[in-house]
Amino acid sequence: MNKISAAITGVQGYLPEHILSNEDLSKIVDTNDEWITSRTGIKERRIMKDGASSDMCVEAVNGLLKKTNTSPEDVDLVIVATVTPDHPFPSTSNILCDKTGMKNAWGYDLIAACSGFIYALSTGAQFVETGRYKKVVVVGVDKMSSIIDYQDRTTCVIFGDGAGAVMLEPNEEGYGVQDFILKADGKGREYLLQPAGGSLHPASIETVENREHFVKQEGKQVFKFAVTNMAEVSAEIMEKNNLESDDVDWLVPHQANLRIIDATAKRMGLPKEKVMINIQKYGNTTAGTLPLCLWDYEKQLKKGDNLILSAFGGGFTWGAVYLKWAYNS
Ligand code: UT7
Repeated sequence: MNKISAAITGVQGYLPEHILSNEDLSKIVDTNDEWITSRTGIKERRIMKDGASSDMCVEAVNGLLKKTNTSPEDVDLVIVATVTPDHPFPSTSNILCDKTGMKNAWGYDLIAACSGFIYALSTGAQFVETGRYKKVVVVGVDKMSSIIDYQDRTTCVIFGDGAGAVMLEPNEEGYGVQDFILKADGKGREYLLQPAGGSLHPASIETVENREHFVKQEGKQVFKFAVTNMAEVSAEIMEKNNLESDDVDWLVPHQANLRIIDATAKRMGLPKEKVMINIQKYGNTTAGTLPLCLWDYEKQLKKGDNLILSAFGGGFTWGAVYLKWAYNS
């Protein structure tokens, strides 16, 4: 029997309808379109007015099941990468399975911030590669607007809401996840975090008054680590798999800042045409960025294309996945 790999057999995204433009933000905080565009590449982002992360997951997953002709009862496992679960518990995966009728599946939420999707994709792939499961759904979702301080101009201009989901299935022709490198450094927690609401600082009048339930980021520090580590790990996975620039068809980078994306592409020797970019439309949707890129570019992907997915985020967490695309749309 040939070796089993875990192939993506479908991708579906969901974005809330409401658009928050740079112009809109300039009426809320002291900022302007020129600053946001030149520093980040973002023009607008989507905001979910009603509902929770699980509701965005439901939209993406229902679309995915339809597209891949999958009955909800046939799904074995559901992994939801998110830092904005509906509740601290039960897991958003639990809620998602209930809302979509995936009643034979079990699942869990995975917290790795902006690297959530590559962490979840890599772990989900293990269950397929061992032969244990036939259908694994991996979701990246974040309702960042639920933890963003719209009085803090250094963070509120960056983030948006969105979800993306992929189906992983066994493949014996060599398509799918080929390799991954995942890294973490907990010392980074001081630079990017949601300080309160967990067991260290449970919710209190003080934590609310001090606005500690919102994302705090030391942008410059995070930028420094992100730009170096995302580029390095992307180059490392190419080297490890003997890939030259010409062998890579697509870079699928986390959409945090266009300058970080450009630096990563440059380090890999890739021209702009090979880089998936949608940051201008959605901003940074945290765990949602990578599946939303795959969804936006799905029609341009060809069976056999070599993709490098790469991300850096809070924790710090970072890494890269080397994937062979498994189908033509
Ligand atoms: O996705 C998870 C990982 N996160 C990241 O990868 C984010 C990494 N960091 C970044 O992308 C960038 O650091 C930011 C986009 C967050 C900020 O860009 P920057 O070029 O590093 O700006 P800065 O923080 O050094 O601020 C430069 C100036 C400051 O003013 P002074 O001190 O020079 O007078 C800020 O107060 O820009 C000011 N500023 C703003 N001005 C207008 C900060 N935010 C804004 C704003 N509008 N929204």
